[in-house]
Amino acid sequence: MTFGFKQFQTGHCYSYLLWDLNNKESVVIDPNIELMDEYRFFLADNKLRVKTAIDTHFHSDHLSATHIMKAEYGSSIAMSENTGSKRVDVKLKEGSKIRVGDISLEVLFTPGHAGDAICLRLVHHQSECIFTGCTLLIGAVGRVGLPGSDCGDFFKSLRRLEGLKDDTIIFPGRDPFGRLFTVLKKERNDNTEFNCESVERFTEIKSNQTVGTVTEEINRCFDYNRSASPSSFGDGIHRASVLTKSIKSDNSNFSCIGVTKYLKILESNSSDNSTLFLDVREQEEFNEARIPRHVNIALSNLAFSLNQIQEAKKVFILCLTERRSSLATRTLNYIGIKDVVLVNGGFRAWTQAGFPTVKAL
Ligand SMILES: [Fe+2]
Repeated sequence: MTFGFKQFQTGHCYSYLLWDLNNKESVVIDPNIELMDEYRFFLADNKLRVKTAIDTHFHSDHLSATHIMKAEYGSSIAMSENTGSKRVDVKLKEGSKIRVGDISLEVLFTPGHAGDAICLRLVHHQSECIFTGCTLLIGAVGRVGLPGSDCGDFFKSLRRLEGLKDDTIIFPGRDPFGRLFTVLKKERNDNTEFNCESVERFTEIKSNQTVGTVTEEINRCFDYNRSASPSSFGDGIHRASVLTKSIKSDNSNFSCIGVTKYLKILESNSSDNSTLFLDVREQEEFNEARIPRHVNIALSNLAFSLNQIQEAKKVFILCLTERRSSLATRTLNYIGIKDVVLVNGGFRAWTQAGFPTVKAL
């Protein structure tokens, strides 16, 4: 990786930080006030500055933290020129580029879920990815029925995304099932809403969905996100359950293995290079102590290592416990990498069992 990348998650909502490894400038996409402590810790730990804070649209499901990024890090706030938000410094239009060090994000104007929705495309020599906000989700597209939603615009915006390359990585603004990303090929094959054959059919499908009305809670969220400097933290609405939903089960059945059996597998196929023993903890954790023969790909970098993962015939995944490994397993299963096994209890269970570990040199 020639740039830094971190995906943050709270409830169903995701946000992203990308940074230039040399000059330490970063851009944050869809910052969420629920995550401010995590951002502060991470930014300080990695000595990063936040040059730009972007909202992909006027959010109804969380409180944007762009104004806090501006107050604490001097970031400029960027949104679509069509937005109703009053806190914007940089108004983005179709084709605008956001540059942070060596990183360049290109703006695609994709209204539909919201009247000001944009997607941000990162073209990089190693991979191509796009941050889609609520426009293209995993196995679905964003809801309508919000102020500024329009099914006709939405349908057209989705047709634009269809033109991207098959292996483009899609980083959505949310997922109720905790899947981290998808790839365009998977959505082209299996996402019924994305692949709708006509605007009439699309409108029919979206109009019949029971997504609920625009509640008082959503209106308060809009008011907060519209304001240049909200006077309070939304009177506590960011703590309300409507905005901090927990991850749903997607009924996917993981293959799992206990650490005692895992030890036997590691010992028995020591010459087998077709199996990938994957540790998705952060590099610092991995360097401190690891299980022999494991490869480290931190959870946030999983999407950029798909080629390596796809080359393996079988993949075992662990983290410290099971939180990160279950997100990784769920995501890889979804995009079609089926022979993935989660190691129950992870590195902690392994060390508690007294099994061998090594330290990095
Ligand atoms: Fe949204």
